[in-house]
Amino acid sequence: MKDRLILGIESSCDETAVAIVKNETTLLSSVVSSQVNVHKKFGGVIPEVASRIHVENISVVLEEALQQANVTMEEIDAIAFTQGPGLIGSLHIGVQAAKTLAWAYQKPLVPVHHIAGHIYANAFVKKLEYPLMALVVSGGHTELVYIPNEYEFQVLGATADDAIGEAFDKVGRVLDLPYPGGVYIDRLAQQGTPCYSFTKPKVEGEYNFSFSGLKSSVLQFLQRCERTQQTYKKEDVAASFQETAISILLEKARKAIQEYHPKMFVLAGGVAANSGLRNKIENEFVKEFTTTDFVIPPLSCCTDNAAMIAMAGSIAYRHEVECDYQVGAKCSMNLK
Ligand code: KG4
Ligand code: ZN
Repeated sequence: MKDRLILGIESSCDETAVAIVKNETTLLSSVVSSQVNVHKKFGGVIPEVASRIHVENISVVLEEALQQANVTMEEIDAIAFTQGPGLIGSLHIGVQAAKTLAWAYQKPLVPVHHIAGHIYANAFVKKLEYPLMALVVSGGHTELVYIPNEYEFQVLGATADDAIGEAFDKVGRVLDLPYPGGVYIDRLAQQGTPCYSFTKPKVEGEYNFSFSGLKSSVLQFLQRCERTQQTYKKEDVAASFQETAISILLEKARKAIQEYHPKMFVLAGGVAANSGLRNKIENEFVKEFTTTDFVIPPLSCCTDNAAMIAMAGSIAYRHEVECDYQVGAKCSMNLK
């Protein structure tokens, strides 16, 4: 049988990425051009700057992905792209690139939800089994998603305010860590002790999350220390914040596993790179839930990339998810 090659394009935030996946299993190439060094200076992503850099980078990244995979556009079966959610100007560049390629080479267009991409990044690790539960933890999202059958999504709960990654990055900023702060907090936390107690939020809805109260609690603690000239160790603040944030995530995840008994549980999104979160799942959940298989994506698949979009797109294409040239980018979009 002929190989099926799906090209994926991701541009929802500050990474311009193109990847090619063969037969829903093999990653032929994955090129990511990150703008993080530009946005670092501003302590966050500047949307107008991001979309301008996507315009400059998209063709180069595409060429490189084709070259590395040693395939031509003619050999590609379908073009998958992130339709949303994300920064509208950034998304627009990826959507336009996908539409242009689809038109020029007469290929089917497969729209992919960014979160479906993060979830299906796990398909590079293992064949996914259903019912599946996904804990999606990224810079823009914190969601518990139940997937009873392949490519059918039920969002059980989401964040009422800040996303988990956003909370890590905001706490990183008040601790004077470089942007994005998540990975730096993770590193500091490994050298500290979780000796401070920070607020755990109360939130409506069994599976909803909230992180803005926790973030404010850390900020107030640091302001109090400054006022009263009390010393503290940054490592301990990072460890205390990280432990509280993880316990909020895992409390809800635990409840969802107890209620839905998924065959498989996957972590997804940039914060899935967090060592504390990975350790807790590997050391506690694996022992606690012996009938659920826990999958944690490799670090390279956690943060934004196009391999995950090409993988999700490969599965979506088999499920006959396609769109026409009228398709547009969506800054907010339901996962269904
Ligand atoms: O999935 P992602 O690349 O972008 C979005 O779709 O939002 O996630 C980026 C987020 C950032 O907030 C970043 O600080 C966080 O993932 N992150 C981490 C770690 N590595 C990346 N957060 C905590 N611990 C980490 N090791
Ligand atoms: Zn993402």
